[in-house]
Amino acid sequence: MRHIRSIYVFCCIVMSACGWASKLPEERELTTNCSNMSLRKVPVDLTPTTTTLDLSYNLLSQLQSSDFHSVSELKVLILCHNRIQELDIKTFEFNKELRYLDLSYNRLKIVTWYSLTGLRHLDLSFNDFDTMPISEETGNMSHLEILGLSGAKIQKSDFQKIAHLHLNTVFLGLRTLSHYEEGSLPILNTTKLHIVLPMNTNFWVLLRDGIKTSKILEMTNVDGKSQFASYETQQNLILENAKTSILLLNKVDLLWDDLLLIFQFVWHTSVEYFHIQNVTFGGKVYLDHNSFNYSNTVMRAIKLEHVHYRVFYIPQERVYLLFTKMGIENLTISDAQMPHMVFPTCPSKFQYLNFANNILTDDLFKRSIHLPHLKTLILKGNKLETLSLVSCFANNTSLKHLDLSQNLLQHENDENCWWPETLITMNLSSNKFADSVFRCLPQSIQILDLNNNKIQTVPKEMIHLKSLRELNLAFNFLTDLPGCSHFRRLSVLNIEMNLILSPSLDFFQSCQEVKTLNAGRNPFRCTCELRDFIQLEKYSEGMMVGWSDSYICEYPLSLKGTQLKDVHLPELSCNTALLIVTIVVVMLILGMAATFCCLHFDLPWYLRMLHQWTQTWHRVRKATQGQLKRNVQFHVFISYSERDSAWVKHELIPNLEKEDGSVLICLHEGNFDPGNSITENIINHTEKSYKIILVLSPDFVQSEWYRYELDFTHHSLCHENSNYIILILLEPIPLYCIPTRYPKLKALMEKKAYLEWPKDRRKCRLFWANLRAAIHVNLVETRETSELQTFIELNEESQGSAISLIRTDCL
Ligand SMILES: *[C@@H]1O[C@H](CO)[C@@H](O)[C@H](O)[C@H]1NC(C)=O
Ligand SMILES: *[C@@H]1O[C@H](CO)[C@@H](O)[C@H](O)[C@H]1NC(C)=O
Ligand SMILES: *[C@@H]1O[C@H](CO)[C@@H](O)[C@H](O)[C@H]1NC(C)=O
Ligand SMILES: *[C@@H]1O[C@H](CO)[C@@H](O)[C@H](O)[C@H]1NC(C)=O
Ligand SMILES: *[C@@H]1O[C@H](CO)[C@@H](O)[C@H](O)[C@H]1NC(C)=O
Ligand SMILES: *[C@@H]1O[C@H](CO)[C@@H](O)[C@H](O)[C@H]1NC(C)=O
Ligand SMILES: *[C@@H]1O[C@H](CO)[C@@H](O)[C@H](O)[C@H]1NC(C)=O
Ligand SMILES: *[C@@H]1O[C@H](CO)[C@@H](O)[C@H](O)[C@H]1NC(C)=O
Ligand SMILES: *[C@@H]1O[C@H](CO)[C@@H](O)[C@H](O)[C@H]1NC(C)=O
Ligand SMILES: *[C@@H]1O[C@H](CO)[C@@H](O)[C@H](O)[C@H]1NC(C)=O
Repeated sequence: MRHIRSIYVFCCIVMSACGWASKLPEERELTTNCSNMSLRKVPVDLTPTTTTLDLSYNLLSQLQSSDFHSVSELKVLILCHNRIQELDIKTFEFNKELRYLDLSYNRLKIVTWYSLTGLRHLDLSFNDFDTMPISEETGNMSHLEILGLSGAKIQKSDFQKIAHLHLNTVFLGLRTLSHYEEGSLPILNTTKLHIVLPMNTNFWVLLRDGIKTSKILEMTNVDGKSQFASYETQQNLILENAKTSILLLNKVDLLWDDLLLIFQFVWHTSVEYFHIQNVTFGGKVYLDHNSFNYSNTVMRAIKLEHVHYRVFYIPQERVYLLFTKMGIENLTISDAQMPHMVFPTCPSKFQYLNFANNILTDDLFKRSIHLPHLKTLILKGNKLETLSLVSCFANNTSLKHLDLSQNLLQHENDENCWWPETLITMNLSSNKFADSVFRCLPQSIQILDLNNNKIQTVPKEMIHLKSLRELNLAFNFLTDLPGCSHFRRLSVLNIEMNLILSPSLDFFQSCQEVKTLNAGRNPFRCTCELRDFIQLEKYSEGMMVGWSDSYICEYPLSLKGTQLKDVHLPELSCNTALLIVTIVVVMLILGMAATFCCLHFDLPWYLRMLHQWTQTWHRVRKATQGQLKRNVQFHVFISYSERDSAWVKHELIPNLEKEDGSVLICLHEGNFDPGNSITENIINHTEKSYKIILVLSPDFVQSEWYRYELDFTHHSLCHENSNYIILILLEPIPLYCIPTRYPKLKALMEKKAYLEWPKDRRKCRLFWANLRAAIHVNLVETRETSELQTFIELNEESQGSAISLIRTDCL
């Protein structure tokens, strides 16, 4: 037992902790819930800060005076459904904050009172008291609002003690009632009186006294079998001092005739609103509307809910007419399995009729019904089939609100509809309507619910619904958002759960007034067409209901399950015009940049250089050893005109040597005396050189070229091995300056097969790199094969003579 107890205590503490955590942000409220734990004693180690303690559904039979000392901040104490037999309210004397004390459903017989002045809610109902547990101290609890009582005997003297309290609710949860002193209840001053009747009581006496007691009277467990046994005729009873305007009977099981008598009795009292809930009736129908005295009433609304029958045969007309002839403002008969309804032929005053959840059919409208004042008609959850029939009925009314949801309604194109101009809201949800329903709608409609039907499109040829503000088309089969050309003032549109892949532009153009759009849970196809739709949310924040959780791509498969807000559809890829413009602009910019580079940085020159350089490298890599083993003695043979000698000596040679000091160069300077021997010498030397560099300038062309022109033509020096000769163009040579006798030179110039000496010093590095690459030879290799190791420096003195400039080594 000890163990079990400690487990309970542990549970309580754990639950306290949870309660503490959840309530923390608000007030410092701490709930300790020890409900339904088979406790026999109040746990000793309750958290002292507990404000709400639930000990219901346990096995407590006694409360100790110290039980609640530790929880001094207790506000709410629930002790219902225990086995407590005796109570000393002094037990709670240290719980000054206690407001709510529930001791219902115990076995209390004796209460020792103590004035708990702070108490607002005290429930002592469903206990075993003999008389009402009320004492002088009860009368001192001036804050009491809700008081639950029980007792086998009710006497005036008990209630007198609390007559001065202004209570909100008195709840009489009676297990038995052996004696009721008439006139006791009206002593109470309470707004609401709720009596749960025990078996074998006199219903009529309590009803009469109840009506004299409070504004609101509720009676539960009205059982004809026991409570109507001592039936005495109530018909001529005139009720004085009636206070009740709202009467509620709950769990009623009566014979039809008894029910009718109750109606008749209540009809002549102060009751304006009569609500009967959960009623079962049976028996033969002897009394009907013919025996009902309809005169002299203040009744305005009757509501019957959850009606069951204990008989198979009901003379329907007689039963229905009892109600429809009442001509009150509001009548509700719902959840009553009612197959039909009959109205008197004369016009009746109903403004509100609710026959929800019955089994009414089109037959309802077969006979003409005159309800000129009808404002609201609720026929939800029936078996109606033809909308035009409803419309013809409605035409003779001033109907504003019509609920026809959850029927089997349809509309055929050839039927005519006549709706009254007064109609504002229509609920046509959960029917079998197709597109044709739009041909049977009242022009005045403002709120239209067509959700859960079989609509595929909103037809283009339909009347203009000028006043329509809210349209619900959820759960249909629409493949596109409807345009608003036929309902210009639409501001709320629900089109959830349809088959919309990508909404068309028509919506965005025509539906300017729409403020709220619910288009979630459609199978969106996330392609460019959806961009406008996604933008819509960005531009009008909060317009889309359920954004962004309900807006998910279904297609393409790669995006399935992605929320629309996360889909990136760039403007560029979706807008063809923009794409073209962008491409053109980019091309233009590139073109301009290229032109600029050409003009400003001489880009083509660089490109040509680079091209040559790479080609050279390529060739060098492919060059075979055999080529190298040609009978070479020099790396380069340089030929130039005298005028360019300064450049050759100060620029070219130093730069060639820069990389490797032992480049073997054979120089030929212009100014030879004309003569074969020299030409032949030159040819010899060119053959002994690995590469020939010709420094081209107009002067060179004039004076030297002839020596090579022939060579090129006859020895095919160049095309056999075009990298053998390196032409350096020192100065531009216009083509027309080249004499016609040099076709080869012309060809070379045209092919631009030369390295151009840049005017811009910055470009020189590249030029030299290129040149060095062009004459690249495996120097080590060459050195091995060549005997000529010495490089004879240029001799300043020998400059004058061309011959002497050809280094002796060359010869
Ligand atoms: C305590 O828990 C029971 C269910 O276990 C619940 O019905 C009851 O409302 C809870 N009491 C309070 C005060 O939260
Ligand atoms: C109490 O607990 C039992 C089982 O633990 C459960 O069947 C019963 O419904 C609970 N009663 C209430 C009033 O919560
Ligand atoms: C009721 O309260 C008043 C003061 O508020 C006190 O004088 C009186 O004795 C109390 N009556 C009883 C029966 O406790
Ligand atoms: C009942 O209480 C209200 C205030 O709640 C008061 O106006 C009314 O006069 C009281 N009626 C009687 C009969 O004492
Ligand atoms: C109606 O009352 C019966 C008892 O009279 C009860 O069993 C049933 O649950 C109640 N139904 C509703 C819907 O209140
Ligand atoms: C109908 O009731 C009114 C008032 O209760 C009464 O004056 C009248 O006599 C009754 N009529 C009949 C036919 O009983
Ligand atoms: C009748 O029904 C209408 C509409 O529901 C409501 O506004 C009105 O208060 C009801 N009248 C009574 C007396 O219940
Ligand atoms: C409408 O009322 C007129 C008379 O006011 C009546 O002749 C006609 O039958 C009624 N129509 C319907 C469908 O009830
Ligand atoms: C509907 O009512 C209008 C005016 O109230 C009337 O002109 C029209 O004939 C009625 N239509 C039918 C079919 O009753
Ligand atoms: C239409 O009726 C259905 C149920 O019948 C309800 O859920 C919905 O809220 C109603 N629509 C409007 C606009 O009241």
